[in-house]
Amino acid sequence: MSDPNNLKIIKNEKELGELKILKGSLGPDVIDIRNLYNQTGLFTYDPSYGATSSCESSITFIDGDEGILLHRGYPIEQLAEKSSFLEIAYLLLNGELPNKDEYSKFSSIITNHTMVHEQFLNFYQGFRRDAHPMAILCAATGAMSAFYNDSGDINDPIQRKITINRLIAKIPTLAAMAYKYSIGQPFVYPDNNLSYAENFLKMCFSVPAQDFKSRNILSDAIEKIFILHADHEQNASTSTVRLAGSSGANLFACISAGIASLWGPAHGGANEAVLKMLNEIQNEKNIPNYLKKARDKNDPFRLFGFGHRVYKNYDPRAKVMQKTCHEVLELLGIKDDPLLKLAMKLEKIALEDSYFIEKKLYPNVDFYSGIILKAIGFPTSMFTVLFAVARTVGWVAQWNEMIEDPNQRIGRPRQLYTGSKKRDFIDIKNRN
Ligand code: CMC
Repeated sequence: MSDPNNLKIIKNEKELGELKILKGSLGPDVIDIRNLYNQTGLFTYDPSYGATSSCESSITFIDGDEGILLHRGYPIEQLAEKSSFLEIAYLLLNGELPNKDEYSKFSSIITNHTMVHEQFLNFYQGFRRDAHPMAILCAATGAMSAFYNDSGDINDPIQRKITINRLIAKIPTLAAMAYKYSIGQPFVYPDNNLSYAENFLKMCFSVPAQDFKSRNILSDAIEKIFILHADHEQNASTSTVRLAGSSGANLFACISAGIASLWGPAHGGANEAVLKMLNEIQNEKNIPNYLKKARDKNDPFRLFGFGHRVYKNYDPRAKVMQKTCHEVLELLGIKDDPLLKLAMKLEKIALEDSYFIEKKLYPNVDFYSGIILKAIGFPTSMFTVLFAVARTVGWVAQWNEMIEDPNQRIGRPRQLYTGSKKRDFIDIKNRN
């Protein structure tokens, strides 16, 4: 018997079938189209997935109209204020916040697996000195599958856990090595007495001739940046990780694919692009000209750090980032930072501009993060690398959820074919 809640598919007054409507715990209902082709012979067309739920997930929820971001139900503002990055990693992976014992076990495992195989040092030597650290990170992460093939069975939950922990523990080491290599300094081994963020800073900024004195404000800022980038539902890189993983590929290779996807300026690469853009704008008086370029359909220029596929309201991460940015610059004694002043002016003018208002383009997480990272001392080429370090916990959590899903099958979209119809081959001597 037909369910009155189902969606009926009617073509030329003939009922072709009906589709179930599925309800989540939050957010819009979704139409279950898995039987659409069987019932109607039709596919759906949604090339950039603007209206497609690619999976069922209980990790992260976003309400883009209200500017809400929840991890396992907890608002990002509360997590950024009260939690730590490793606690959030545990939460994303396990569904609940850890108790004291669980937290201490988890952070001890992560802390004690920060070293990478010594042969990685040789692997890095193969890159050109001026290689972009994202290129190195992408390759090094994929190469980890060649070093840790003792835990490659993705169907074994224990081996999956080992690989997940290895990735979370070692990705800051690989990222810091990419940086050190690019500036011609020796690699710095991890220090297990330090927190996740402090250790990362030490591996980036310490040199044999002078130890790096960790400053709380810097490690707190890095911790916050990591927290704000930890996961973000089914974005391009996470979907890439899931799709790569859906074929049964090993996790290191999937994360390498995620890093590649993150690199683009429309996604994680936007933090690097924001700084380049601010340097190019140079002066407040040039802002109107750049806004004009952003509005011009024939100009490929976009205002980096603005707009989001899902947020049609202020990105809640950008609010926290803006506050952190002011705090860090003040604590570092950087008064009247010209880039921050320019960024704030640009934000103000853009938010009052009819084009940006009409298209609901607000600053996103990448708008302010680069200014903080620059103040800490990172070059722009490292900005997306830090994003990748943080997002690794989201990627591994989402990948693990997919592997555990009993309905999981290889991801395999279809297409709207617009090429030539069937035709006969013409021998080269008869072609014009
Ligand atoms: N500057 C100027 N115009 C823009 C911008 C922008 N930053 N963003 C969107 N638009 C316009 C776009 O031209 C389009 O206009 P029209 O309707 O006339 O064709 C309209 O707004 C909708 O944009 P869209 O490209 O269809 O939206 P999307 O959901 O496909 O793209 C986006 C989202 C984030 C890729 C895009 O807003 C963008 O390119 N922003 C700049 C890059 C950026 O900051 N990316 C970081 C995203 S947040 C962190 C992350 O994901 O890593």
